[in-house]
Amino acid sequence: MKLIVTGATGFVGTEVIRLALRNKAVTSIIALARRPVQVPQGVGADADVSKLHTVILEDWLSPYPAEVKEKLAGADACIWLLAITPSKSKGVDFEELTRVCHDYTMNGLREIASVANNGKLRFVYTSGVGGERDPTQKIPKVDEHMARLLYLRGRTEVEVLDFAADAVNAGVHVEVTKPSGIYGAGHPKIPGLPKLLSHMPHDPYIHVSDIAAAMIDECINGFTKETLWPQDMTKIGQRVLKKEDYADYEESTT
Ligand SMILES: NC(=O)c1ccc[n+]([C@@H]2O[C@H](COP(=O)([O-])OP(=O)(O)OC[C@H]3O[C@@H](n4cnc5c(N)ncnc54)[C@H](OP(=O)(O)O)[C@@H]3O)[C@@H](O)[C@H]2O)c1
Repeated sequence: MKLIVTGATGFVGTEVIRLALRNKAVTSIIALARRPVQVPQGVGADADVSKLHTVILEDWLSPYPAEVKEKLAGADACIWLLAITPSKSKGVDFEELTRVCHDYTMNGLREIASVANNGKLRFVYTSGVGGERDPTQKIPKVDEHMARLLYLRGRTEVEVLDFAADAVNAGVHVEVTKPSGIYGAGHPKIPGLPKLLSHMPHDPYIHVSDIAAAMIDECINGFTKETLWPQDMTKIGQRVLKKEDYADYEESTT
């Protein structure tokens, strides 16, 4: 499987790259990024690091340049993790949030689908447990800026799903993942989260290795649901990972 990963320099993206390098079903990994993506630490001796290639993209809003599309051509799947996360959104104006979280995603989906392997693409769009698809639904416990971002993320979820539902994009399959608080080495659990998310029927935390493994597994074996919630991804992660596969395995055993 040829896999494209965006957001590959980030917390979740780094773990997706690490696990994908260890996974024999993934034959090629294209990290589409604005700067070079390094081989993650702790990748393990059995990982084939020659599978990882960075493709630099400078303008995420326009049609991708021919030389970029050439390197993306034949992709089977894409894990889209590029975003300004809610925790980093304070002080970022809404126009910029819209550009990065929505416009880059929709343009990316269109461009990547246009060069996919025989028109067939599995596209995982990562949002968050708080992303709200219904603009009439009140979002409790957050300020106005955060609420606008959560509606924007929800709107993007709807639009990526609509793209795949359109008959002209028949070969494109989209799955939305909605993680809660992601934790792992260097990213401890945020103590206030269970209270903040207490109105939702979802686990407040998910391990970074579980979400990364779940997304890779769904790309390889097919999408099991339109939307994956934290508990769905934890279940898949725990099924496919051995304990020594987890990112903080060394740390937790010393
Ligand atoms: N972390 C969590 O607890 C959590 C919880 C729920 C949902 N999520 C969602 O999961 C996804 C990944 O989160 P994360 O924690 O891995 O995020 P992260 O560590 O902040 O990484 C964000 C990634 O997006 C890229 N990016 C951001 N702005 C960009 C821009 N203007 N142009 C090009 N690239 C840009 C960054 O690239 P650079 O390195 O070049 O800046 C980086 O690779 C996001 O959709 C997030 O909302 C995260």
